[in-house]
Amino acid sequence: MPPKVKITALGCYTPPNLLTNRDLEKMVETSDQWILERTGIRERHIAPPEMATSDMAVEAAKCALAQRGTDPSSVNTIIVCTVTPDYMFPSTACLVQHRLGARGAWGFDLIAACSGFLYGLTTGAHLVAAGTHQKVLVIGADTMSRIIDYTDRSTCILFGDGAGAMLLEPSDGDDGCGFIDFLGEVDGSGGEFLKMPAGGSRLPPSHETVDQRLHYVHQDGGQVFKYAVRKMYESCRDLLKRNGFTGQDVAIMIPHQANIRIINAAGDRLGIGPDKILIDIDAYGNTTAGTIPLATRDAIEQGRLKKGDLVLFAAVGAGYTVGASLWRWAY
Ligand code: UT7
Repeated sequence: MPPKVKITALGCYTPPNLLTNRDLEKMVETSDQWILERTGIRERHIAPPEMATSDMAVEAAKCALAQRGTDPSSVNTIIVCTVTPDYMFPSTACLVQHRLGARGAWGFDLIAACSGFLYGLTTGAHLVAAGTHQKVLVIGADTMSRIIDYTDRSTCILFGDGAGAMLLEPSDGDDGCGFIDFLGEVDGSGGEFLKMPAGGSRLPPSHETVDQRLHYVHQDGGQVFKYAVRKMYESCRDLLKRNGFTGQDVAIMIPHQANIRIINAAGDRLGIGPDKILIDIDAYGNTTAGTIPLATRDAIEQGRLKKGDLVLFAAVGAGYTVGASLWRWAY
């Protein structure tokens, strides 16, 4: 069956301020060498205090719409994937809709942490494939610096801020480009290992929750690491297999950027060499829902992603959430 949906534009935004490993050396007991060797990260972009997630999301969306010459009022749906919304409600999608002037659009926020963008992309793809939607804007945006404890060396070295947006439109399938398949899985048994404990209905904000630093990211890194290495491999393997592909067929793998060792381990087992894997974690750290569009932008800019290429996206994150998707790049 010819692909019915294609990605027609991509826009990204990262705030200008940088937090380097050297900066972190002054804040917690760590070293540039430890961070680089254990994670692959050199620096992260950090939003200034007045900038929230919707501000970055709007910039990324404007950039994608301008690239395609699309008027915001023709967008049907806005999906904002984020774990750092401006507010619990209204949704970030509403704020973005208003700021863009996307009159008549509907939309919602999607929470799936590091797999968020891939979950948004497959949701949007199915809206378009159903024939009921012509233009769906999928945005991954996270201001992780707002929920990071900069006294906790095991987490504060990992995360950065950033956003990216992709526009989805119908495809006549003539050139074989577009959405091929998605494989997703959630496993709530891993929920304890990566979470923000307070601020929701389980543990509402109180003096105690603030004193106990429960409004920050808490992670058992080792547990998440082991799960991510296994599931990034298994989900990609199964997705490729059921579509009649092997790692050799992939032009480029664009994985979520949480740790360079997770990415390399998955690539190794899939038989996808380093020349075919996009890694840009050194420049951004883990921007949660922002990593995949940012890495896609870098793949295009480096001349490593062209029309007709088979691209494999993959992510594992808090929840646990797992996602992998296959596309033939359309522009
Ligand atoms: O995107 C969401 C999903 N998240 C992930 O995929 C993250 C998965 N986890 C990881 O990437 C890794 O587990 C970390 C990078 C978080 C940690 O790396 P690790 O190799 O698993 O280190 P570790 O937690 O086993 O810690 C090893 C040692 C410990 O010291 P001891 O107990 O051996 O004396 C830590 O206290 O390294 C210590 N350590 C640090 N040392 C210097 C932990 N953080 C730091 C640090 N600087 N920043």
